[in-house]
Amino acid sequence: MRFAILLYLLVASSCIQSDNSNTFDRAFSENIGIDRSTPKGERLYQAYIVLKENCMSCHTGYHNDWNSNKTDQGWISSGQIEPNDSYSSSLVIRLKNIGGNMPKDKPQISEAEFDLITNWIDNI
Ligand code: HEC
Repeated sequence: MRFAILLYLLVASSCIQSDNSNTFDRAFSENIGIDRSTPKGERLYQAYIVLKENCMSCHTGYHNDWNSNKTDQGWISSGQIEPNDSYSSSLVIRLKNIGGNMPKDKPQISEAEFDLITNWIDNI
């Protein structure tokens, strides 16, 4: 019995340990240079991750460089978004979710991802 408890503690603590290190690894690998210390920064970060996963494989390198937009101002200057007006933003208008053709050759982004993008733009 005592051995079983000891074994349980060992297994449980090693799980906690590995959870921690996974969380750390994830946070570390997603450290992409966006200031997340404010709600505004956090909204930009969440939208950036969606764009990174669904768009940047094409929209970085050749005819534009989305991955270098690490601030709201950067996205505004690039012409991709209209602050506080997601449905006037080319980045949103082009989405399959509302009748566009992006992401090209892929299914439309999820509603949750769509909401992260519009919530970011509508609260700049
Ligand atoms: C498989 C490659 C690919 C992916 C993935 C992709 N695009 Fe595009 N995108 C293109 C190409 C090629 C064009 C130019 C042709 C056109 O306009 O249809 C383009 C054009 C655009 C344009 C207009 C031109 C510009 O650069 O401003 C916008 C806005 C856009 N895409 C948004 C997105 C968004 C948002 C996503 C992710 C949800 C996305 N795209 C994912 C290939 C891609």
